[in-house]
Amino acid sequence: MSYEAIQVETHGKVGLIRLHRPAALNALNDQLMDELGDALQKFDADEGIGCIVLTGSEKAFAAGADIAAIVDHTYIDAYKSNFITRNWEHIRRVRKPVIGAVAGFALGGGCELAMMCDFIIAADNAKFGQPEVKLGVVPGAGGTQRLPRAVSKAKAMDMCLTARMMDAEEAERAGLVSRVVPLDKLMTEALDAATVIASMSLPTVMMIKDAVDRAYETTLSEGVLYERRVFHSVFGTEHQKEGMKAFLEKRKPVFK
Ligand code: HXC
Repeated sequence: MSYEAIQVETHGKVGLIRLHRPAALNALNDQLMDELGDALQKFDADEGIGCIVLTGSEKAFAAGADIAAIVDHTYIDAYKSNFITRNWEHIRRVRKPVIGAVAGFALGGGCELAMMCDFIIAADNAKFGQPEVKLGVVPGAGGTQRLPRAVSKAKAMDMCLTARMMDAEEAERAGLVSRVVPLDKLMTEALDAATVIASMSLPTVMMIKDAVDRAYETTLSEGVLYERRVFHSVFGTEHQKEGMKAFLEKRKPVFK
């Protein structure tokens, strides 16, 4: 598949995907979401890649679903085409870590896409919001579910009901993003973080992602039980032997 609405690069063991519809502030249409799904799947399957970074432009990560593309949708169109489910959730099936590097607007579906990443590093000009209410619609790609889990019910209700945007500083305070950096440092920070992750044992990293995600899907006791089973299983891996021996031998581990 050749890409028009995204750009794809590799930086060592890091796969970088840049949303690229500059004339529409990266509004998310079917073509873009299909291309994004394809690129994510390819990086996930690529043995040489250990971590993925998803970003947009300096002005917009993504300003939401492409309103012009869906304005005339009927209920039956949305239902029959399996809108959202068909091509918006590929990112949740990726087993390697995905970092969202967000600058500028992350609104509506753009905020929802950012929240589907494993964590978000934000530039100081980032603005997050769920302005769907102003369009007479509700968030449709997880905004009413992931936002309350990320920032509390109070802030999620406030944002979804009033459509107000949250700036980067508030987003960090509320726990929506893990770090805020100056705009001109965003890509360095995100690629450095991804490079650190990609230097670790890939299966271990994938198990950690899987276990942390469990925290959102199950009870504490079930989640701890899941973690314990995974923890026991790591003693069957060579990477555990290498990682621990390297520490004791005061050298850097080499994870093959
Ligand atoms: C289609 C969009 C768009 C969108 C911006 N554009 N957002 N086109 N869909 N979501 C287009 C504009 O029409 C314009 O095109 C160009 O991008 C630049 O946008 P401006 O509005 O001129 O820029 P600015 O004045 O800087 O304002 C930026 C903005 C505003 C605040 C982000 O564009 C905005 O409010 N956009 C809509 C945000 C939104 O409501 N998102 C939620 C969408 S619904 P032209 O051709 O005029 O230059 C949604 C539902 C999700 O996401 C459900 C799951 C899929």
